[in-house]
Amino acid sequence: MFKLPKAVCVASLVGALAFSVGQSAHAGEKFGFGETATPEQIAGWDIDIRPDGKGLPKGQGSVADGEAVYEQLCATCHGLFGEGEGRWPVLAGGQDTLTDDRPVKTVGSYWPYASTLFDYIRRAMPFTAPRSLTDEQTYQLTAYVLYLNEIVDEEFVLTDENLAAIEMPNQEGFFVDTRPDVKNARCMKDCADPAKLVVTGTLQGITPVGHFIEGADAPAASHEAQEELEREKEHQRKAASGHEGAAQAATEAPAPLSDAALAGQSVYNNACQACHNSGIAGSPKFGDASAWAPRIKQGMDVLMGHAINGFSGESGIMPPKGGRVDLSDQQVKDAVAYMVESSK
Ligand code: HEC
Ligand code: HEC
Repeated sequence: MFKLPKAVCVASLVGALAFSVGQSAHAGEKFGFGETATPEQIAGWDIDIRPDGKGLPKGQGSVADGEAVYEQLCATCHGLFGEGEGRWPVLAGGQDTLTDDRPVKTVGSYWPYASTLFDYIRRAMPFTAPRSLTDEQTYQLTAYVLYLNEIVDEEFVLTDENLAAIEMPNQEGFFVDTRPDVKNARCMKDCADPAKLVVTGTLQGITPVGHFIEGADAPAASHEAQEELEREKEHQRKAASGHEGAAQAATEAPAPLSDAALAGQSVYNNACQACHNSGIAGSPKFGDASAWAPRIKQGMDVLMGHAINGFSGESGIMPPKGGRVDLSDQQVKDAVAYMVESSK
């Protein structure tokens, strides 16, 4: 009875040995996998910009032109003056708060180099469509965010030549720490149980406040305890707003959706839910019939027009195509069909 498994076992062991011997005999040899990256491919990835300006594309953009682009693509989340809508990040202000218990870290109060701003916007913004901006728009937006922070004036034109010379207010707040590293020996056995460690000091602005259990005097000292805490909070949030579950159910329920709506579902998930799932920035919430009823009354043509061309109504700003200018009109129409049919 045991013969067969044993034989298999030995055979596979021999196989494994043979394989590893075979490998070392081929060390240094090429196996024909993959291909050498072309300069174009490397250029596609090599987009970082250094504080001295190395890596910047040639170009320029003015504060004045940046204002229009910012209001169209960024203000719904970051606010007209960079003050941040709802809980979206604040981009301006916060000067002289870095030593407060809750410092407001913004581009102006915290960031050491203007190059990071250009790099970040080009790489990551707008949030729903990273890398969709042209270099010119990126110059314009960088100039405008600097202006919102009163680092440049309204006449300013940012170029690849003057960017490195911009001095950010907190540049001196960053320096190379020359103190020696800690000399504690690493514990290898009989170490303290991390779950029982108590944090006695925290660093202002660095220790996440989430590590402190509300109402308890000891912080969660381990990752496990932290995860437990997050789960608990999530649970409470869900229980408090039964809506979350309702919207979820609407997404999953096998409601008889039209073909257009079915096609629009993935567009919605990719491009629209960031705002509409929870009603951020004044957007009508997905699945919320009372929020949608008056809008639906306008007729599908109006709704689709507003979704494609953008719309500034009483509750907020719907950016053209939700900021995803790469979407076709048809894709946006399908997404609207999906939203409307799911919110009746
Ligand atoms: C849909 C909402 C949304 C839109 C629209 C948006 N952003 Fe953001 N932005 C975010 C979020 C979320 C973060 C934080 C991302 C993170 O930390 O991973 C962020 C972070 C940033 C930051 C870094 C802030 C910091 O201090 O860390 C900058 C700068 C920024 N955005 C600029 C822009 C610009 C310029 C635009 C317009 C082209 C834009 N954003 C559009 C949501 C948005
Ligand atoms: C950055 C946030 C944001 C994103 C992303 C977004 N929307 Fe909106 N949307 C809004 C806001 C805010 C409103 C409400 C504007 C008002 O009535 O003041 C809105 C309103 C709408 C309306 C109702 C318009 C009307 O006339 O009442 C439709 C339809 C719509 N959005 C579709 C979409 C579609 C489709 C997408 C994805 C392709 C999308 N939205 C992505 C913020 C957003």
